[in-house]
Amino acid sequence: MHCFSDRALLRAELAVLLENSRLAESCAYVQHGQTSTFLHCVAVAWYCLWLARLLRLEVDRRALVRGALLHDYFLYDWHQPGHGRLHGFRHPAAALGNARLCCRLDEREENIILRHMFPLTPVPPRCREGVLVCLVDKGCSLFETFNGRYRRLWWAERMVRRAV
Ligand SMILES: [Fe+2]
Ligand SMILES: [Fe+2]
Repeated sequence: MHCFSDRALLRAELAVLLENSRLAESCAYVQHGQTSTFLHCVAVAWYCLWLARLLRLEVDRRALVRGALLHDYFLYDWHQPGHGRLHGFRHPAAALGNARLCCRLDEREENIILRHMFPLTPVPPRCREGVLVCLVDKGCSLFETFNGRYRRLWWAERMVRRAV
């Protein structure tokens, strides 16, 4: 179903999560380089939609967006002491635990969040949407590590400022 443009769908799902979750808090945490965890998640959602469209993949776009927006919903700064090396292995389960507290997730959304660190965590995603998030997450992380900026996603941070 393609009745929503990518941007409209992302904005709509983001608005719901900003209202019903603690996602806005992740603006305060650094993911890689100069990018917050919040903007990282928005970027992953955005480029998953882009890639699905490019490859003409039949996907559940809503689950794709919600899973991507919540895939790093672990709510701490992983650079702070105490999180250390195990963060990479543990944060998918932490994100899923937090997400379950605020949202009713379907099986696909849960799988996207829990399996996005494959192959670091050994079980691969079970759905197409999970594979997309897993791949796009790696690309975005690399881009951010080299100090890339998401200039086209400025509106997402403005949505947060309006929501709080
Ligand atoms: Fe992650
Ligand atoms: Fe991520």
